Amino acid sequence: MEAIEILASLGTPAGRADPYPLYAALHEIGEVVELGSGDVMVVGYDAINSVLRDPGFRVSDNASLEQQFPGWQANPVFIQGADWILNLNGPRHARIRSLIARAFTARRVFGLEPAIAKMADDLLDAIADRGADGSVVEFMHDFAYLLPVTVICELIGIPDADREGFRPLARDLARVFEDIDVADLPAINAAAVELLAYFTDLASKRRADPRDDLLSDLLAVSDSEDGRLTDFELLHNLTLLLVAGFETTTNLLGNGLQIVLTDPPAGEGLRDGSVPPAAFVEEVLRFDSPVQLTGRIGYDTSLRGVRLSDQAGVVTLLGAGNRDPRRFANPARFDPSRPDGGPLSFGGGAHFCIGAALARLEGAVAFPRLLGRFPKITAAGEPTRRDTLTLRGFDMLPVTVA
Ligand code: HEM
Repeated sequence: MEAIEILASLGTPAGRADPYPLYAALHEIGEVVELGSGDVMVVGYDAINSVLRDPGFRVSDNASLEQQFPGWQANPVFIQGADWILNLNGPRHARIRSLIARAFTARRVFGLEPAIAKMADDLLDAIADRGADGSVVEFMHDFAYLLPVTVICELIGIPDADREGFRPLARDLARVFEDIDVADLPAINAAAVELLAYFTDLASKRRADPRDDLLSDLLAVSDSEDGRLTDFELLHNLTLLLVAGFETTTNLLGNGLQIVLTDPPAGEGLRDGSVPPAAFVEEVLRFDSPVQLTGRIGYDTSLRGVRLSDQAGVVTLLGAGNRDPRRFANPARFDPSRPDGGPLSFGGGAHFCIGAALARLEGAVAFPRLLGRFPKITAAGEPTRRDTLTLRGFDMLPVTVA
């Protein structure tokens, strides 16, 4: 197949539903595939890694937004997004990210383990009750969505009583990561405004009365660092942590369960203890990554012998890199015991996912509990996929557990 045909197929619902044969065809063409007019799609593992680690390739920031979407400042979601570390380059990115990292520590993440285990067990109890008579249970909502959104609320320090109203707002704002339709902007903007007002209020409460949570730690960092993190930078990045952290992890849980539903032996090692939970999670991330791609802008450079135009669009296809036959033996085989792990699913370099340890922990806590608790878990009808390529996952995954 020619590159142009493969790329056209990736843009269709069937191509998005199963992009892996198309990725295999792209690997035969080369590590870097030309898209025309100097833009490229990077599909090789090593080439993706080098783009993500090279500061010469920049993320699209508000200067690029200005070109693509003049008048973006009229949208609260873009105003917040303009402060998100995901959308910043150079010294400003380094400054804000390092201050956030001072609060978002390994100690804080691993300290959540007992709470995550309890939340997972509570959700599994509810599923066991509802499914005890063989009734169909919807895994995506009842577990894969509720666990990460509750964990992120716990991490930030959002009180229990506020969480119910909070979830739909978080869900609306998370739509900003998809191909946004202008018609969706009012709902996304409304969620952005409401979440910011909520966080502003919660921040003033935590400032007056700090607790053992991420928000109190972030406030302490910003106050002690003498304004190096402004209130808006802090609050805007709090909304980023909220939305970057749950949809992706939801898809990790759904994609992992679907692997076991379609290939039950894939879960046996985890059930009998021969596969460590962390190794299972890494292989789910590689085999069916919740984030399939990210992007950079290249400036009049070349990559693996391919010339890029100035301000070239560079799509780094993480999901393809994870199936690169030059890097992984039998890439299309799900093998949690593989010695050659190391998926690109959390990116790499300066923007490497700041929540990777938390997402890995949630997966490592959830999968053994889920499969151990429900040895008979079975698909009940066709799952419904979300028709998006960037964030890969399901809308509905109906199962029976008894
Ligand atoms: C399985 C779950 C997750 C996946 C697959 C994932 C994937 C990614 C990827 C690929 C990037 C880099 C994007 C780029 O280079 O352009 C990223 C960045 C980021 N992620 Fe995650 N993520 C996950 C979970 C989380 C969680 C749980 C949080 C927060 C609690 C989080 C917060 C962030 C933030 C704030 C960034 C931006 C970092 C920066 O730009 O410096 N993510 N994530």
